[in-house]
Amino acid sequence: MPLHRAIFVSDAVGAAATSLLPLAEILGQAGRNNRRSGLTSALMRHDGRFLQVIEGRRADVDRLMDRLRLDPRHENVRLLSDVAVADRRFGDWPMILVELTSAAARVLNGEPLDQLSPARAETLLATAVDAAAVPA
Ligand SMILES: Cc1cc2nc3c(=O)[nH]c(=O)nc-3n(C[C@H](O)[C@H](O)[C@H](O)COP(=O)(O)O)c2cc1C
Repeated sequence: MPLHRAIFVSDAVGAAATSLLPLAEILGQAGRNNRRSGLTSALMRHDGRFLQVIEGRRADVDRLMDRLRLDPRHENVRLLSDVAVADRRFGDWPMILVELTSAAARVLNGEPLDQLSPARAETLLATAVDAAAVPA
């Protein structure tokens, strides 16, 4: 099955920037919908911004991106990367929330999330996902 990967960064709006409840609501919606669409995803919130990777079939990734752009909980959605890939790189979770672990922070090197190159955004998310992975 051909796979597609999109990585975007956005600016969180209002409570979505700092509070737990909007984040939990996003994770709940995303988990349900992504599972249904065969999408896998990792989301990081840091310093008022979201960084997210989405992997799945192109049509499903595009549909989600169209919906995401309309979500008032964030704005200025900008794609860092939008490419065909051979394999999933960020695990098999429909949605996983990842933290800026110390290893991931070294990749970020004090810069804002929206200054990341596509390659560094991938490395950052992969590092954070590896740290978050729990044994089955
Ligand atoms: C930063 C961010 C990431 C999101 N990620 C996803 C996602 O991976 N999958 C998803 O279905 N919705 C995601 N959403 C929510 C969608 O924008 C939208 O509200 C939701 O899909 C609507 O689902 P519903 O029709 O089941 O309520 C995200 C929202 C934000 C703000």
